[in-house]
Amino acid sequence: MTNKLERAYLLLGLAYGALGMGLGIVMAASHNHGQAVTHAHLLLVGFLLSVIYALIHRLWLPSPSVWMSRVQFGAHHLGVILMVIGLFLLYGGYVPGERIEPVLSSSSILVLTALVLMMVLLLKKPRSTVPDTV
Ligand code: HEM
Repeated sequence: MTNKLERAYLLLGLAYGALGMGLGIVMAASHNHGQAVTHAHLLLVGFLLSVIYALIHRLWLPSPSVWMSRVQFGAHHLGVILMVIGLFLLYGGYVPGERIEPVLSSSSILVLTALVLMMVLLLKKPRSTVPDTV
């Protein structure tokens, strides 16, 4: 189970990375940096945080609570996708701030919930009796 989650986290993280860098290249080539905030969130919350969660699963969560890791995974990715779409629409001037605000606020709550759930998963993990190798 955790291997599947790790792999899904890595693949989705790398996909967000490719999209974020692609958006960076489009901004640089067009001399229009209007989507810099979308680019930054796609790369930092999407790419880097997803890869960090994959590493946490690999290094510290060999057998996590299955239902909680699924909820954590779903909350993070739903949050990232809603956040990136919301920011893209806002900074592209496609939708006014007051209309997109509910999407952006729920996306940030989802991303925060996923972070807190990851902390809970780590706190619930029984402490290893075998000392870490240096
Ligand atoms: C193909 C690689 C990349 C390209 C072509 C690129 C391009 C850009 C461009 C054109 C800007 C706007 C600069 C400005 O208006 O001041 C920007 C801003 C930014 N980029 Fe990238 N970038 C790349 C990779 C990354 C990566 C890997 C990260 C982080 C993981 C990152 C994080 C940021 C941040 C935090 C900002 C500032 C956003 C803001 O001021 O609101 N970028 N990038």
